Formats: sequence, C-alpha cells, structure tokens
Amino acid sequence: MKIAFVTGASAGTGREIALALAGEGHDVAVLGRRTAALDDLVREIEGLGRRALALTADVRDAGKLEVALDALLEWSDGRVDVVVNAAGTTGPLSPPIGQYSLEDFDSTVATNLRAPFIVLSRLLPVMRAAGQGRVIMIGGNHGMRGRAGRSSYSASKWGLRGLTRSAALEAGPDGVTVNYIAPGPIAIPRMKAAWKAQAEAGGVSEDEALRAYVANMGIPLGKPSEAQDIVAMVLYLAGPGGRNITGQELVIDGGATVL
Ligand SMILES: NC(=O)c1ccc[n+]([C@@H]2O[C@H](COP(=O)([O-])OP(=O)(O)OC[C@H]3O[C@@H](n4cnc5c(N)ncnc54)[C@H](OP(=O)(O)O)[C@@H]3O)[C@@H](O)[C@H]2O)c1
Repeated sequence: MKIAFVTGASAGTGREIALALAGEGHDVAVLGRRTAALDDLVREIEGLGRRALALTADVRDAGKLEVALDALLEWSDGRVDVVVNAAGTTGPLSPPIGQYSLEDFDSTVATNLRAPFIVLSRLLPVMRAAGQGRVIMIGGNHGMRGRAGRSSYSASKWGLRGLTRSAALEAGPDGVTVNYIAPGPIAIPRMKAAWKAQAEAGGVSEDEALRAYVANMGIPLGKPSEAQDIVAMVLYLAGPGGRNITGQELVIDGGATVL
C-alpha cells in the first residue's frame, strides 16, 4: 500500500491532487485548517476505496504541524511514498514594499517556505531511510520572476526553489526525488470568484474580464491552467515517469514564463 501526504488539501489544487493520488491507489493523509472541508474530502477518498486521514493544523504553527506529522506517521505505520506541499497563500496582494507589515511578510514566508521545510525535516529522513520517495512542491511562476505588489509571495516561492534543489541533492543518493511545479494562474474556485468580482466591478462580462486578465498576465496560450493540468504533472512525477527526474522546476503557465 502506498501512502501520500498532501498539505493544502481542503480546497483548490491540493484537493484535486489528493483525490487523484487516491484514484491512483494511494492511501492519503490530507492537511489544512478547515476541518469540515477535510472531513468531506476524507469521505470522497474513502468512496474511492482508499484509506484517508484528516489532519487539522495551521502550517505556520510549527508545534501543531509537528504534532500532525507524528499523527501521519502513526497512521501510516511510518511509511510515506509521496509528499505534496500544496498549502500556500498569496499574502498581501498589491501594496509595495514599505506599505505592508513585517507580520504579513512573515506569515507568507511561514506558510509558503517555512512549512515545507518543517515537513521535509520530519519526512525526508523517513523516505531516505526507506530508499525511495517523491516530494513535490507546489510553487508558482512568481518564483521564477519578480512581480510588483507580490514581493512576499514571490520571495517565498523563490526560496522554495532553493529548498527543493538542495533537498534533491541531499536525498538523491537515497532514491528520493524532490521537484517543484510552478503554476501560473489556475482556474480554481478562489480565482474564479476573483475574476467574477473583476467583471462586476468593471461592468463587463466574465469572458471579457478573463480575456483582459490573460492579456495582462501575458499568457501566450491564452488561458489560465485548470487544476487538472497541475494534477497531471503531480501524477507524472509521482509515477513511473518521474523515476529519474529530480531538482527540477516544471512551469505550467500557458507560456507566460519563457526563460
Ligand atoms: N490558484 C492559483 O492561481 C495559483 C497559481 C500559482 C501557484 N499556486 C499555488 O498552488 C497552491 C494551491 O493553491 P490554490 O490556489 O489551488 O488553493 P487555495 O484555494 O488558495 O487553497 C489553499 C490551500 O492551502 C491551505 N492553507 C493556506 N494557508 C494555510 C495554513 N496557514 N495552514 C494550513 N493550510 C493552509 C488552505 O487550507 P485552509 O484554508 O483549510 O487552511 C487550502 O487548502 C498554493 O501553494 C499556491 O501558492 C496557485
């Protein structure tokens, strides 16, 4: 039996990743803050014939996250095959540096960078000792570039790349891969709500608002990603195709970032 652990699984992309890993035969432990949403997901995973465990923790709270990781290992009998760090926050959305607080900066970094470090600190040794494992970080294409008004988010996602590459080098000799997926905008419920609000504010149709957003983001393929685009890459990296891939950044953003 293979065991997967997905943070940020109560909503959006992480939720879809957890369901897809269950569909591929993994028992899945899912983590977030919203207990009811996690309980719903557990029932869905169990409906697929797999075991599931809901872990409620704020990933910014190291003590609570460590308790959750202990509970995971107790549930899984000390085994972890796939770890997906999907919990993330955008942080302050538009103020320039100098106009948002240190607390907001710290909160973004604690969620997007420090939490994956805490997860790796506990689970990478377990996977290395087992001689196998796949770690997948959900970063963002703002970790490949800068963006005005997104400094804490961009900095945290850049940092996550450094953590990914270093962990890949350390764990490679023990058969563990560590990779980073860099999505651009994903059409998950939170983003769709934002596009709808933009349409209403601008007095235009939702299609027009989305076209303007895509043009503003400079997406050559002309559309945001779907969660399933990210899911497909996770399954590839977690499956046979990912056997010899490590330390890489896979950008899924319709071509907005061409380095
Ligand atoms: N959506 C996009 O356009 C986009 C683009 C590029 C990258 N990404 C990245 O993709 C990942 C998933 O984002 P999403 O937009 O698909 O999902 P989302 O709807 O924003 O949900 C975020 C998930 O992270 C969890 N989370 C956030 N802060 C947390 C905290 N302090 N403690 C525990 N869990 C926390 C949330 O759970 P609770 O609320 O239950 O705590 C939720 O499950 C993130 O890393 C994000 O940065 C997203």
